[in-house]
Amino acid sequence: MLLVLCGMACDRQPYQSGERLYKAHCANCHMDKGEGLGALIPPLAGADYLAKHQDQLPCLIRKGLKDTIVVNGKIYAEQMPPNEALTDVQITNILNYINSSWGNQHPAFQLEALREMLKKCQ
Ligand code: HEC
Repeated sequence: MLLVLCGMACDRQPYQSGERLYKAHCANCHMDKGEGLGALIPPLAGADYLAKHQDQLPCLIRKGLKDTIVVNGKIYAEQMPPNEALTDVQITNILNYINSSWGNQHPAFQLEALREMLKKCQ
């Protein structure tokens, strides 16, 4: 019921939409406050990787990530699954939620620029 009520209204409120999508698609791994989970899941709150790889984030969300990466000095080597079902708008809202939550203060993505980045996904 709540979701039905949310439907259209949420898309007019990008931050709330991003929060809702984050809780549904990301929080089970990255946790509610973006703190990550031990040695398995890297944090998003205050993450240097997030700050340094903004251009790659749209593709990372859509295609997932299977790599060995260093986030805030710790090594992570688990796999992040792809999110092929999320639309360009939904990815924009999720990233803008993450970029402006939990102390993060990164610039917002604009939909058109994000679409250009998605065209270049490997
Ligand atoms: C099944 C668990 C899982 C889910 C669900 C998941 N991730 Fe990840 N995420 C990971 C793992 C594991 C890595 C590290 C991957 C690697 O080492 O190659 C990662 C890495 C990342 C990174 C880069 C590293 C960092 O900390 O900055 C970002 C950004 C990210 N995820 C965002 C998201 C977003 C946004 C969602 C929701 C759309 C999401 N993830 C859903 C497990 C997950």
